[in-house]
Amino acid sequence: MNLNGIKLTWLGHATFRIETPGGQTVLIEPWVMGNPKCPESEKELKKVDVMLCTHGHGDHIGDAVAIAKKYDPKVVGIPELVTWLKNKGAKQILPMNKGGTQTVGDIKVTMVDARHSSGIQDGNEGIYGGEPCGYVIEFENGVKIYHAGDTCVFGDMQIIREIYAPEIALLPIGDHYTMGPREAAYACNLLKPKTVIPMHFGTFPQLTGTPAELKKLVTDIEILEMKPGQTVT
Ligand code: NI
Ligand code: MN
Repeated sequence: MNLNGIKLTWLGHATFRIETPGGQTVLIEPWVMGNPKCPESEKELKKVDVMLCTHGHGDHIGDAVAIAKKYDPKVVGIPELVTWLKNKGAKQILPMNKGGTQTVGDIKVTMVDARHSSGIQDGNEGIYGGEPCGYVIEFENGVKIYHAGDTCVFGDMQIIREIYAPEIALLPIGDHYTMGPREAAYACNLLKPKTVIPMHFGTFPQLTGTPAELKKLVTDIEILEMKPGQTVT
């Protein structure tokens, strides 16, 4: 895998911090301080320029409000979700919807489909969070990374390959709430990236899928098993 100046750090579960070659910090899935898999040393972020949210569940946006207030990032997401975040104190929101691309600082962000649910738990209230999504991020050096969000496998992943051809795919493999290794292996076949980084496993007892199971099923694509807090460059 050649990231050509990008630094990608897994903060555990579905959360990634990516530093662009130009020095911007992109946070995908703002679940950091409350994330039991995030190493203590990584919980204090230096800065966040752009924050991407895939859906309203607590294990993805659990710290979104706190991070938005502290770092004032540009917040990208589906309109219903980012409008809720604005009402909670996010100052810069960049709503978008599926199929669209927008340039945010150093990166081009395309919102793509994901098959899941997306309610927001706001105290005792359940709020409609819009639809869940994934993202294809294109960096200024041409590298494209796909973050699938929470999803099952779906046939239109082939469209993601045909239009965007991301070389790196961040795929959930934990099972129960998302694809497990069996489905993720099928997703690898549809997406045909160079490298897959498994995520959304092991955080809770129900998330039983493992990278080892995926590696057994996928032999022609690099499965890069990261440790929470690890950075690849
Ligand atoms: Ni979810
Ligand atoms: Mn989740």
